[in-house]
Amino acid sequence: MWKIGNVEIKSRVVLAPMAGITSLAYRNFMKQFGVGLTVTEMVSDCGLIYGNEKTIEYLKTTNEERPVAIQLFGGDADNICKAIDIVLKENPSVDIIDINLGCPVPKVTKTGAGSALLKDPKKLYEYMKKICDYSPIPVTAKIRLGWDDKTINFMENIEVLEKAGVKAIGLHARTAKQGYSGKANYEIIRDLQDKMTVPLIISGDIYTLDETLQFLDISKATAVMVARGGVGNPRLIEQLNHYFQTGEKLPDASLEENISYLMKFTDMLIEEKGEYKAMMLLRGIAPKFFDGFPNTKRIKNALAQTLTTRASLTRILSESDK
Ligand SMILES: Cc1cc2nc3c(=O)[nH]c(=O)nc-3n(C[C@H](O)[C@H](O)[C@H](O)COP(=O)(O)O)c2cc1C
Repeated sequence: MWKIGNVEIKSRVVLAPMAGITSLAYRNFMKQFGVGLTVTEMVSDCGLIYGNEKTIEYLKTTNEERPVAIQLFGGDADNICKAIDIVLKENPSVDIIDINLGCPVPKVTKTGAGSALLKDPKKLYEYMKKICDYSPIPVTAKIRLGWDDKTINFMENIEVLEKAGVKAIGLHARTAKQGYSGKANYEIIRDLQDKMTVPLIISGDIYTLDETLQFLDISKATAVMVARGGVGNPRLIEQLNHYFQTGEKLPDASLEENISYLMKFTDMLIEEKGEYKAMMLLRGIAPKFFDGFPNTKRIKNALAQTLTTRASLTRILSESDK
C-alpha cells in the first residue's frame, strides 16, 4: 500500500488519464483488473466555470473506482481554484485533484495551460502553490521531462512542485515536443524516486510486464501509469498488480479471453453512453483487443469501419470464427 497525502492506494498500478478514452465505463472496467487509482481525462477549468454540461459530465465517478482523481487543466491558478470548488460541489467523493502539466496540444498550451507551464519553474511554483494551498483534498501533478530536448528541466520542476505542496507526481518520460511518439527516456530518470520526497508515478511506453519492471527498476518509482498499453489489453494491469503482490508472472490473455473482455467493456460503455455513441467510440478501441494476434486484419478493419450496433459487433466477431 502507498499513499497520496492521506489517501491510501492498494495497487501500484494507476490508470492514466486519456482524453476520449478514460470514460466512466472505461475506468470502472479497468478497475477490476487491479487498478489502484483512476484518473479522469483532463477537464477544462473554464468549462466548469461556464457551467458547460458536457464538461460537468466528466466529474461523474463511482464508489467502486475510488480512490479517484479528477484531472484539471487551465492556465490560471485562480480559475483552477474556482474549478476545484465546482468539482467538490458536484462530486464530494472525489479523492484527489490532479493538475495537467503535460498536455502538448497547441489549443491547450496557447492558453498557458498543460505543458506550457513547464517552461518557467518560478511561475509554476506560484501557480501550484496557490492551488495546493487552496485545495481541501490532495493535489498531484502530471508533468513531462521538459518542453523540448534543449529544456529538460524535470528535476527543477519536481523540486518546485514538492515545495508548492503536491502529494505525488506523475512523469511522462517524453518532452512536450515529442508528443506521443518516439521512445520514452527512462535512462534520464535513473534513481529519480530516491531524489524525491513524494511518490513518483512513471508513464510512457508501458506495454509489457517485463519492460515495465525494468522502467520501475531504473527509476525506483512508487507506481506506474498504464495508458495506451492497457487499451485492448486489460490483462497488463492484472499482470502488473499480480507481480507486485506475489512476484509471479501471469501469461498474456488469449484471444478468447480478450473477446470476452471486449464484450464486457462494450456493455458497460453502452450503459454509460447509449448504443450509438458507444459504438462510435468502440471503432477506435475494439480493434486494439486483437493487437498481437495473427490473421486479425480483416476483423480489425471491420470493427474500425462498420460498427454501428451491439448486434453488428457480435456479427463481426462470429464471422471471424469461420
Ligand atoms: C489519446 C490520448 C489521450 C491522452 N489524454 C491525456 C489527458 O487527458 N491527460 C494527461 O495527463 N495525459 C493524457 N495522455 C497521456 C497519457 O496519460 C500517457 O502519459 C501517455 O500516453 C504516455 O504513456 P504510453 O506511452 O504508455 O501510452 C493521453 C494520451 C493519449 C494517447
